[in-house]
Amino acid sequence: MTTLVLGGTGFIGRRAVRRLAERGQRVAVMDVNPRAASFDEFGDLVSVMYGDITNFEDVVKAVLASRPDRIMNLAYLLGSGDDTPHFTMKLNVLGMDNCFEAARVCGVNRVVYASSVAVSGQQSAFGDRLVNEDDPMHGTSQYAMHKRFNEFQAQQFNSVYGMSITGIRPANVTGPDKVRGSTDHVQCVTLPASGEPARFPKSGFMRLPVHVEDVAEAFVRVTLADSSHHPVYNTGGTPISLGDLADMVRRYLPDANISFDADGGREESGNYLVDNSRLLGEFELEYPPLASRVRDIINDVRRDNGLPPV
Ligand SMILES: NC(=O)c1ccc[n+]([C@@H]2O[C@H](COP(=O)([O-])OP(=O)(O)OC[C@H]3O[C@@H](n4cnc5c(N)ncnc54)[C@H](O)[C@@H]3O)[C@@H](O)[C@H]2O)c1
Repeated sequence: MTTLVLGGTGFIGRRAVRRLAERGQRVAVMDVNPRAASFDEFGDLVSVMYGDITNFEDVVKAVLASRPDRIMNLAYLLGSGDDTPHFTMKLNVLGMDNCFEAARVCGVNRVVYASSVAVSGQQSAFGDRLVNEDDPMHGTSQYAMHKRFNEFQAQQFNSVYGMSITGIRPANVTGPDKVRGSTDHVQCVTLPASGEPARFPKSGFMRLPVHVEDVAEAFVRVTLADSSHHPVYNTGGTPISLGDLADMVRRYLPDANISFDADGGREESGNYLVDNSRLLGEFELEYPPLASRVRDIINDVRRDNGLPPV
């Protein structure tokens, strides 16, 4: 089986590609930054090409060149993109349309794409309860609106053409090399791991970290399935305040210099109570405890800095 991964050299994509190749799957990668990751260890199993998802021809060419059985779309503008609305809309919304339409015209029925926990908006819209995929979406940022519209696009292609397109809503993905998107919960771990101080506005901000390897595995399992029971799945994660995350880091690094300007922030936090039972149940996923993932990240960073593991 061959999978075409759009945006496959990014933070989640490079891990999803490796996980597919480790299973002996053929993978074709299309990205505007084709050299951002190397898959040389997999030889001919993984091929990488330049292509821009905003250009329909590029996407069709990538599909015709690789003849995939599956397409995974991770190409997106991470971060708000609020200062470039035209560019951001082309990448996030037209790019998704190009992916779905190229899949359709080339006869690829199964597509998996990234939505986001951001579709839900603030936790305060729901009160103090878990939110599942059937709950109303309250996200209003440009990024959230684009993800909400992506879910609508997928629903249209599924209902009009009978395609099998499934979305995954990652929570706050974390890992040693994350530089785009939500990063305070990442820096709370990576800065002290390399001996640098970390300072944040409020200790009560709630986050929902989930390790990038666990998210990559979720994308792989959902993509390899012929279909899914639901149109969209929450990855969920572990709800934790930045203050408590700092305490978790101090368990491994007692001298970590992490400070906060103020308490509070919980009431301003995005959706952090998320029901992920659909994804974990249907695709038999289990995440290691957050503390062990935090330790993994600390040790990844320390290894890169020539420091001994903790
Ligand atoms: N990282 C997170 O915390 C998180 C959380 C929720 C949802 N998601 C979603 O997961 C997906 C992947 O996120 P990520 O963290 O790997 O982001 P990333 O920025 O690391 O990866 C995106 C990839 O898309 C590529 N790309 C950008 N513009 C392109 C274009 N015009 N044509 C082709 N490729 C292009 C980039 O070069 C990059 O390799 C995105 O849809 C993102 O919104 C991520």
